Amino acid sequence: MSVENYSKYLGVEYFQDSLVNLAKKKEERRKYFQDDFPKYFGVEYLQQSIVDPDVLPLLEKHDITQDPQYSQINVQRRIDLHGHYLERGGFPEDRRVYVALSSPEMGFGVFANVYIPAWSIIAEYTGIITNKFPNTDYAWIYYSTLKDSNADEIKLKVDSRAKGNIARFVNHSENPNCDVVHVPYKNRWRTLYISNKSILQDEELSVYYGSNYWSTRTKINN
Ligand SMILES: C[S@@+](CC[C@H](N)C(=O)[O-])C[C@H]1O[C@@H](n2cnc3c(N)ncnc32)[C@H](O)[C@@H]1O
Repeated sequence: MSVENYSKYLGVEYFQDSLVNLAKKKEERRKYFQDDFPKYFGVEYLQQSIVDPDVLPLLEKHDITQDPQYSQINVQRRIDLHGHYLERGGFPEDRRVYVALSSPEMGFGVFANVYIPAWSIIAEYTGIITNKFPNTDYAWIYYSTLKDSNADEIKLKVDSRAKGNIARFVNHSENPNCDVVHVPYKNRWRTLYISNKSILQDEELSVYYGSNYWSTRTKINN
């Protein structure tokens, strides 16, 4: 029975109003999962990042052990912890998290669909590794800087505007409940979002985007 018919049946206008409002609220908080993304957001699911063919030859020649960040981390520890996940990648049917409207200012965000223990891999940040990123709202830094034939630097990002996964919807917080962990794996930098504390069902997930991101944008200090 519909909400309207149910309240007519009870004969209570007030009850109808509150049920309609409740239904509307539920509609606003509609949950979207990764397999909904192509239909509702026009975003193609990517299990792992792909490389822009224009930069692929240079990226294949590049040795990531020469990147400054490589020597700053315990590489083997990161590979031991996360290599298995990177080998397999995420999966489109993952229902541990969902996308829903967070606020009018922040737009959509990612929420826990179940209790998520600390130190769980939420997702790899997937997208297209490219030097073309006219809009950086959905682009994470890719650590390697390539050099073209003139020895000019080519900066790269992982762009998830049109292709990616749930990670592209995670909002920024000053006190995030997920860490961003860059893992050098098989000569590519791979970026993981990992919970840094336990996260309750329906709690919003967040990461720290870095201060540069906000030099040209207005952030909510949450
Ligand atoms: C990677 S997207 C996150 C998903 C986005 N909210 C959406 O609806 O698709 C990054 C954008 O989300 C918004 N955003 C994320 N965190 C925010 C914050 N703490 N304050 C204000 N806007 C935020 C900004 O518009 C930012 O450029």
